[in-house]
Amino acid sequence: MNPTDREVIITREGVSLGRYRASDFAAVHEYATDPMVYRYAEWGPNSVEQTRQYLSEASMQNSEALTLAVLVENQVIGGAAVWTTNADHRCGELGYSLNQKFWGRGYATLATRMLLDLGFSYLNLHRITATCAPENSASRRVLEKTGFSYEGLMREHKLIGDRRRDSLLFSRLVTD
Ligand SMILES: CC(C)(COP(=O)(O)OP(=O)(O)OC[C@H]1O[C@@H](n2cnc3c(N)ncnc32)[C@H](O)[C@@H]1OP(=O)(O)O)[C@@H](O)C(=O)NCCC(=O)NCCS
Repeated sequence: MNPTDREVIITREGVSLGRYRASDFAAVHEYATDPMVYRYAEWGPNSVEQTRQYLSEASMQNSEALTLAVLVENQVIGGAAVWTTNADHRCGELGYSLNQKFWGRGYATLATRMLLDLGFSYLNLHRITATCAPENSASRRVLEKTGFSYEGLMREHKLIGDRRRDSLLFSRLVTD
């Protein structure tokens, strides 16, 4: 693979966020069908069509959202996104998922720092929120390490299958 044919948006300490390519299907589908990755998510396991759709939507130009591959040594190790939720109020949200093989090396923390940079600069957001399941200690820790403030528990916030689930709400302001 030619390392120059992917658009890299931002890099920090060896981790990059870049545009997806159609050839990333296998790498994305691997973590999007791993029960350990989607166990706290409202999506998953992805069908082949859902992964294709995700890649197709991610590659569309969008001035209010960035859906990007997390890259280490030009290998796709996960996905990360930041998007506008309310354009009038310049509010947005971010999220991330990594292939289990790459957990515990600080990569999500670096990816989140870069998403914050992009959210506040490229998307011109004032406030960025993130949510996680109360049991998702790793995600909670990532948000704490990247300077998010805990705002509270949102009761029965998500419908996952036929079960309602609480979420923890975190935020960061451009002024924090
Ligand atoms: C959440 C996720 C992205 C974290 O990725 P990661 O690259 O392992 O994260 P980092 O290495 O940057 O940081 C993880 C932190 O959580 C801690 N952690 C991991 N598992 C933990 C657990 N079970 N309990 C408490 N802390 C835990 C790590 O020790 C580390 O903190 P530290 O640096 O203070 O030691 C990854 O686990 C993942 O993809 N999970 C599935 C998808 C998901 O849950 N996405 C978020 C949805 S809200």
